[in-house]
Amino acid sequence: MIRKCLFPVAGYGTRFLPATKAMPKEMLPVVNKPLVQYGVEEALSAGLDQIGFVTGRGKRTIIDHFDVSYELEHQIAGSDKEQYLTSIRDVIQRATFSTTRQPEMRGLGHAILVGEVLIGFEPFGVVLADDLCLVEEGTDSVLTQLVNIYRRFGKSVVAVQEVPEDKVHKFGVIQGEELEEGLYTVSDMVEKPKKEEAPSNLAIIGRYVLTPDIFEALRHTEPGKNGEVQITDALCQLAKRGRVLAYKFKGKRFDCGSVDGYVEATNYVFENLYSNGQ
Ligand code: G1P
Repeated sequence: MIRKCLFPVAGYGTRFLPATKAMPKEMLPVVNKPLVQYGVEEALSAGLDQIGFVTGRGKRTIIDHFDVSYELEHQIAGSDKEQYLTSIRDVIQRATFSTTRQPEMRGLGHAILVGEVLIGFEPFGVVLADDLCLVEEGTDSVLTQLVNIYRRFGKSVVAVQEVPEDKVHKFGVIQGEELEEGLYTVSDMVEKPKKEEAPSNLAIIGRYVLTPDIFEALRHTEPGKNGEVQITDALCQLAKRGRVLAYKFKGKRFDCGSVDGYVEATNYVFENLYSNGQ
C-alpha cells in the first residue's frame, strides 16, 4: 500500500522570474488555486495522504498554505466568502504534511534522496508540481494510473508521453519494450538527450511511483546532465535490472514552469474546470 507522496519544491523557478523572486513557483495560481494544491489534491485522489515536502530557502508560504490560518477563518466565518476555503480546508483535513530541507541545489535526484528521511523503506509517489496533470472528470488521476500499475507489478513506474523530436532535449527519455498497450518495460533512460541521441520520443513527465531501492541507487549516482544528480540516471540503474515500467498516461500535462504552458493551463482550467470559486 502506498501512503506517502514526495514533493520536491526547493527549486528556484528561474524560468518564471521576476514572479518567482520572492515567491515559490509552486504557489503560482492557475486561476485561483496554487499549483502545489493541484498536486496535493492529485496525491489524495490516488490515496496518498502523507505529504512530504523537500523545501529550501524562501518556501515557507507553501507550508503556511497547508496550515490553518486562524485570523482568516475568524474573519470570514459565517460569511459567503467561506466557500472559497472549501477545497483547501478539505485538503488540510485529509492529509498530513512533513518537511525537510534541501540545503544545496544538487538536482532532482539529490532532492529525492534528501526526502528519504520522510519516506523510510516503502514505495512512494513523487509529484513535480510545476507539471500540472489534468484528466477528464470521473476518470483516474495520472498518479492514480501509476499507483494502479504499481499494484499490479510491484515495480517503479514513470509517466511518459510522446513528444515531438525537437522537444526531447527538455525531458528524460526512455527506451522500452511494450508489454501491453501504453505500458513499457524500460531498458534504458537518458536525461535530456540531443534529438539524434534520444532512444525514443517517449518523454518522462513529473509523476513517478518509486520503490525504496531507488535511495540506494541514488547514493551511487554521480552527477550527470548539468552537473546535477538526476533521478533519471538512478532509475536507469533499476531499469537495467528490469525494475522500471513506463506508462503512457491518459490525460493532459501542462508545463507550468514555462510561461507558455502556464498560460495554456490557465485558459484550460478557466474554460473547463473553474466554477463557483473552487
Ligand atoms: C525533470 C526530470 C526530467 C523530466 C522532467 C518532467 O526535469 O529531470 O527527466 O522529463 O522533470 O517535467 P526538469 O524539468 O526539472 O528540468
